[in-house]
Amino acid sequence: MSDSVWRGGDDPLRCVSVSVQAPGVKTFRLAPASGARVIFHAGQFVTVELPLAAGPTWRCFTIASSPLQEGAIDLTIKRQAEGSERGGTAWLHDSLQPGMTLRAKPPAGPFCLMAPPETPLLLVSAGSGATPMAAIARWLRDIDCKTPVHYVHLARQAEDWLFRDEIDGIAAALGTWKTDWLTTVAGSRPDAAAFAAMAPDLATREVFCCGPSGFMAAVEDAHAKAGGPAQAFRKEAFVAIPIPELVAEPKPVSASEEGFSVTFQPSGKTTAARPDETLLAVAGRLGIAISYACGEGICGTCRVRKLSGEIEMNHMGGIEDDEVEAGEILACCSYARSPLVLEMI
Ligand code: FES
Repeated sequence: MSDSVWRGGDDPLRCVSVSVQAPGVKTFRLAPASGARVIFHAGQFVTVELPLAAGPTWRCFTIASSPLQEGAIDLTIKRQAEGSERGGTAWLHDSLQPGMTLRAKPPAGPFCLMAPPETPLLLVSAGSGATPMAAIARWLRDIDCKTPVHYVHLARQAEDWLFRDEIDGIAAALGTWKTDWLTTVAGSRPDAAAFAAMAPDLATREVFCCGPSGFMAAVEDAHAKAGGPAQAFRKEAFVAIPIPELVAEPKPVSASEEGFSVTFQPSGKTTAARPDETLLAVAGRLGIAISYACGEGICGTCRVRKLSGEIEMNHMGGIEDDEVEAGEILACCSYARSPLVLEMI
């Protein structure tokens, strides 16, 4: 393996192997074609470009392997039901074969462990939310971390408990873990009171929670009611859902609303943008396709260059300071605050 660090761009990820993890769930092992090393923190994701029939589509997938795994990263991906995603998991399951390459962007995302934890952890996941927890568990195993961890995982049925044997093995090896494997009862999930009963010390732990939004809201509610500080609760809202404002009927600026003109180069197309409308949605109204993946300012896929004007950008780490200094912005989380001229990158 080379000593250079993988930066995406012209260096695609090559599929090394595909294996079945569980019914409807596959693990895709990917490695930079150049042999460069992938550097990331446990819990982060990569953004890959999928050659879907509708056109190239960028999608984010959490890395399930340990940052210390040599040579390749693993993406464990559940095949989503038709109509429940923007597309992508079906293509991966049906078409991605060893030897094929995908363009990709380097790992990113704030939902991760940046350093060995000193505070006891509570890891809570549901369904495919197990993937960042697998990366965290594997990394804590690799560094022999003895900090106490309570892992709670929920799935529809026991066959869907992802990584159960491996995580129970890690728990036994480290000796400081407790695991709870749960099933939903008749489609219902534990509420805040049930979580509080299950993890009575949750206010004293750093919490990582990943799963459907209603599930995460219940855990967050339990944590807040127990007196846990908000900064000790992290959630991964990363799910393969359409960005609502991009699938809703376009809503142009009404006469009563104050809008700023936004011009996209090189096409020169112009429209007025509402103050609460992302520039990604404005571009969509004009029929200008800006690539996007997370829709939350995390992955960095939707970068465009601001040639003039003022914007408000509320990103979550998807853009670097030097990129901002170079005039780049993230269209999915930026809003016009004056007349704008933007350029596609
Ligand atoms: S789509 Fe991910 S940062 Fe905009």
